[in-house]
Amino acid sequence: MARSHPTLPRRLIGVVVLLITALLLLTGETYPQTALSPASDVAQVSQDLFMLTVWLGLAVGLVVETMLVYTIIRYRRRLGDGRPKQVHGNTRLEIIWTVIPTILLAVIAVPTVQGIFATAATASANALHIKATGHQWWFEFRYTDLNITTANEIHVPAGRTVSFQLASADVMHSFWIPRMIGKRDMIPNHVNNIWFKTDRVGVYPGECAEFCGISHAHMSMKLFVDSPAAFAAWVKAQQVAAVAPTTALAQRGAGVFVSSGCIACHTLMGTIGQGMIGPNLSHVGGRSTIGAALFANTPANMAVWIHNSSAVKPGSLMPPQAVSGADLTALIAYLESRR
Ligand code: CUA
Repeated sequence: MARSHPTLPRRLIGVVVLLITALLLLTGETYPQTALSPASDVAQVSQDLFMLTVWLGLAVGLVVETMLVYTIIRYRRRLGDGRPKQVHGNTRLEIIWTVIPTILLAVIAVPTVQGIFATAATASANALHIKATGHQWWFEFRYTDLNITTANEIHVPAGRTVSFQLASADVMHSFWIPRMIGKRDMIPNHVNNIWFKTDRVGVYPGECAEFCGISHAHMSMKLFVDSPAAFAAWVKAQQVAAVAPTTALAQRGAGVFVSSGCIACHTLMGTIGQGMIGPNLSHVGGRSTIGAALFANTPANMAVWIHNSSAVKPGSLMPPQAVSGADLTALIAYLESRR
């Protein structure tokens, strides 16, 4: 039976589509989660290595394919040709195609080893230290020198090295902010270190990159690179408890927070809540997202989350809360006022 093969025009279209997609992937503004648009010193090292191998590979491919096509055309069988000359091995050719790859691999190996040593070195002395802990399914960030604990959203200053100590509270996770640094595992009872420095103010998405259970796909984070002044202001605000609730609604919500069981799992500065199981909520109102960067931090989303988080994030370990009506509205008003 005859097999149908794609026709040449269809193949060409496929190749063109592939090339355009690849080019689009190179632009980080279009795809903020691409690893091909580095925004930090460490990501640049990886990118340089990657591009070196891409260009060398392209050059090799071009030379080999050109020779192949030339040979096929130049030495094609013609009418009246007899049996071609039979050869067995060619020492000179064998040496050439052994030596050339050896040189190419050496060219790649030198910057690779340099890159490994450069990025595995200890972070600079003035680095900002953040202990990042993976949980099913969210990230906890402790700024060990600043006495700040937050979740899923990291603020760092532009122009200063940030050093992460990665660990896990349960299973293996992997820390990945594609435009800043490659993946690094977060392992229980083991600390992995990474660091990077970026000068580019902006917001950068990150992901857990190691399958860690049913909501692995919903374990995201956001990196906010602030100007040094904006970062200093953020630090100052995080280090103190948010001002006492001013509206009657939020005041009622503060009571609901303490009486309804939230404090068993969550810490909130200025309350008796010192729970360590769930994210620290001291400044939850100031975060742009909830549920590990899954939903925008809006009162409506917060209501859904508190009511039954596992309905919108499979496996979420926060149990459904029996808070409703005016109590729920008040609780949300209180949480949103914690900035
Ligand atoms: Cu944590 Cu995947």
